[in-house]
Amino acid sequence: MAGIRGVLLLSIFAVVVAGVLSYERPPPRKNLFIPRRRLLSSSPEQQVHISLVGVNKMRVSWITDGDAPSTVEYGTSPRKYKFSATGTTTSYRYLLYKSGQIHDVIIGPLKPSTVYYYRCSQDSSREFNFKTPPSQFPIKFAVVGDLGQTEWTNSTLQHIGQSNYDLMLLPGDLSYADFWQPLWDSFGRIIEPLASQRPWMVTEGNHEIEKIPLLHSTPFTAYNARWRMPFEESSSTSNLYYSFEVAGVHVIMLGSYTDFDPNSDQYKWLLSDLAKIDRKRTPWIVGNIHAPWYNSNTAHQGESESDDMKKFMEELLYKARVDIVFAGHVHAYERFTRVYKGKEDNCGPIHITVGGGGNREGLAMNYIDPKPEISLFREASFGHGQLEVVNKTHALFTWHRNQDGVAVVSDSVWLKSLSSDHACKV
Ligand SMILES: [Fe+2]
Repeated sequence: MAGIRGVLLLSIFAVVVAGVLSYERPPPRKNLFIPRRRLLSSSPEQQVHISLVGVNKMRVSWITDGDAPSTVEYGTSPRKYKFSATGTTTSYRYLLYKSGQIHDVIIGPLKPSTVYYYRCSQDSSREFNFKTPPSQFPIKFAVVGDLGQTEWTNSTLQHIGQSNYDLMLLPGDLSYADFWQPLWDSFGRIIEPLASQRPWMVTEGNHEIEKIPLLHSTPFTAYNARWRMPFEESSSTSNLYYSFEVAGVHVIMLGSYTDFDPNSDQYKWLLSDLAKIDRKRTPWIVGNIHAPWYNSNTAHQGESESDDMKKFMEELLYKARVDIVFAGHVHAYERFTRVYKGKEDNCGPIHITVGGGGNREGLAMNYIDPKPEISLFREASFGHGQLEVVNKTHALFTWHRNQDGVAVVSDSVWLKSLSSDHACKV
């Protein structure tokens, strides 16, 4: 009897240990396609999402199948809209596809940390609401790249939705439409519950290019039409790179798939943008790129967007004392130490890859062995990151792995801002 009990206890112990210590890498899950809303309801507006414009304004974007007013009515109480704003409508063609009417309306000035209720195109059947970011610390960012639209994406979005985040940073590869434009619409519907409630700030990845020689020679057609970011406000001339400030953080969204050499507009813009930063007003600087500059996964090694962009721009970010650089592209999680020119450097940024949003291509499972010393944590899993900037000196970064339906924190690190480190004073 004692023997049986012993075996039983041992088995239970083995199962518990296996559950804690090992983590079986999940395969990709199937793609989702969310049909047009008019099949589900009579509301004209769909794919509602919002993004910051300056410190106290918000852009509301949505799509209607037919003509509809480009109007947002809003206020701080449900169904009571004290304010109204009208914006612009565009559309685009891509091969045989013609988009719906894409509406862009800038509203504000808005108060910080305040819930606003709003409706689009004067449709009284659907009311949305969003919360504006705080004007000072603390602030919480959700960070995820390579989102796609699979069941894993849904899982990631569910976890982000539970996180009480203030603002989304998405360093590239959004819909994985890959030339099939209805998938952009489907992506817009999948993310609407979250993206209509908190600002989503994005930059482009390779899946946004969608250029076809001879047939469609203009790159980023869908991306630029559907995801207009506030580039003019930071004196950028392109929707593909820009910066913004929120609650003491200067956020730089760089473009890995447009020119970045020292003669390029992006390079010159970055130089002038970094020169304008006032570390008293924004003690933290967070950069975002799509193709990682540091990566010890076997996926995406040797690409120009990683190696050449790093060669040209790393010094600029280093000298400006950028705190963190987030990247996507590699479908896995990896965190490096503070680094510059391949070596540990206490005044360099921490590079973090968060490319495991849940896209249909699956995980990048293989790593270079042995692990480089500058790589502190690497894990092939889907999930998302959270950066909680607590005050001007300290921030907490956590990686939330999708373990089936549950978000498990498998990596976390406290960061000290470089602006508070006297050894890194510029
Ligand atoms: Fe990518």
